[in-house]
Amino acid sequence: MAYSQNHFNKVREAQSRAYAPYSNFKVGAYLKTKDGKEFYGANVENAAYGEAICAERSSLVAAISQGYRPGDFESITVTVDAESPSSPCGACRQVIKELCDDDMPIYLTNHKGDMIETTIRELLPLGFSGKDLNL
Ligand code: THU
Repeated sequence: MAYSQNHFNKVREAQSRAYAPYSNFKVGAYLKTKDGKEFYGANVENAAYGEAICAERSSLVAAISQGYRPGDFESITVTVDAESPSSPCGACRQVIKELCDDDMPIYLTNHKGDMIETTIRELLPLGFSGKDLNL
């Protein structure tokens, strides 16, 4: 299903759950499955800064933990409070590559409602995957 106001409302709700007392940079992720389920993700920081978990990965880990598998996902929407939408970090790109279809829509948004649509094919060209392991 195409991007809609619903995606924006849900990802902003997900963002409100972020735990980001160190960076104060709250990120939300809204992951939809092809069978209509929804998972929220938010960044979860730690006093040991390097242990922060990003919103994108937190939504995917939630879905996989509930039994969803690679290929089950319809779209992921991400939001930040910034002048322009932010793009997933390298680690998140690698995890999206593992779990999501190469052409699955990735909607990047900000508090103003700006939206950039992309895919992991575009964000991680020539990325490493299970195919490289001949699996
Ligand atoms: N962060 C995300 O949640 N997703 C990204 O793709 C980039 C960064 C979080 C991690 C950290 O809690 C905060 O944003 C600042 O880097």
